[in-house]
Amino acid sequence: MNRAAILGTGSCLPRRVLANTDLEKMVDTSDEWITVRTGIRERRIAGAGEETSRLAAEASRRALAMAGVSAEEVDLIIVGTMTSEKAMPSCACLVQKELGAVNAFALDVNAACSGFLYSLDVADKYILANPAMKVLVIGAENLSARINWQDRSTCVLFGDGAGACLLTGASDGRGLLGSRLMADGRLWHLLHMDAAPSLNPDLIPEDYAGPYIRMAGQEVFKYAVRAMQDGVAQVLAKVGADPAEVALVIPHQANIRIINSLGDRLDIPAEKIYINVHKYGNTSAASMPIALDEANREGRLAPGDLVLFCAFGGGFTWGAAVLRW
Ligand code: ACO
Repeated sequence: MNRAAILGTGSCLPRRVLANTDLEKMVDTSDEWITVRTGIRERRIAGAGEETSRLAAEASRRALAMAGVSAEEVDLIIVGTMTSEKAMPSCACLVQKELGAVNAFALDVNAACSGFLYSLDVADKYILANPAMKVLVIGAENLSARINWQDRSTCVLFGDGAGACLLTGASDGRGLLGSRLMADGRLWHLLHMDAAPSLNPDLIPEDYAGPYIRMAGQEVFKYAVRAMQDGVAQVLAKVGADPAEVALVIPHQANIRIINSLGDRLDIPAEKIYINVHKYGNTSAASMPIALDEANREGRLAPGDLVLFCAFGGGFTWGAAVLRW
């Protein structure tokens, strides 16, 4: 049976590091508050030449190099993002141009922090239909451009970056065993980001307060833990696996307390959960592919390992996936 297997991974982070101690000089916060409540110690901030599509393209180059596949061989580019530098064209089209992937078609998926998971699932469907396809799946964000830097409740949480992986069909047991995606748009107001205001004054809401990320942190926290636990239980049941069989969990990196709560509820030991939120903060759709690439390059993944992904984000969107490495 053919499955969508990962041939190579890559990631790219902006050069500029913004530490908690830097934030202490910008808003009324402290390194201790941020570290204890979130686990975040520093994050990366994109500058000139580090637009979302550029970070995405560099992460993709690294994934292609690892896979030994040329840009011309790529058939499809999918970018999970909500912060591309342009509303049109898609980030995926800009990546296609940057890479010279002239034979690929290209599309973006906006599922907020679940964007990589949703993109992986779309790629899986194309590959199941045509196993020869080579698909680049990318998560890339420039969240620092959409943060109210006077709002201490959000500005300490987010960072920029991109991660990518190249997938194609494999019939040797490797690949995506299953995924379970969910959404509840009724709860959109708990975590959202307005677009740029309409040019039609009739359509500008009276309470428009700028195109910033806004979040009801405590409520998001509670939903995130429960929803990811549910997503993981459903996907493990779907593929017939037990939590004890999972070799490595790669969760969305939003908050160390969410990740630890999830680990406790699933009874998965800390050493089986990959964590890099201390270095990059919450990079939304980019967080899981960056973590996957780092885990891969650190040798944390062995052939045959069962890898579990789970994410939660604005929408609400959430879900989980299981992959045989
Ligand atoms: N520095 C210092 N104090 C702060 C800061 C800050 N940066 N931010 C808020 N506070 C204060 C608040 O004003 C409040 O003060 P008060 O008690 O005097 O009113 C106090 O700290 C507690 O605030 P809470 O919001 O209750 O703090 P909480 O413990 O809930 O932590 C946090 C906030 C970290 C945002 C947490 O709710 C959280 O992680 N939520 C989930 C967010 C998330 O991870 N989402 C992931 C999915 S969404 C996505 O990835 C885009």
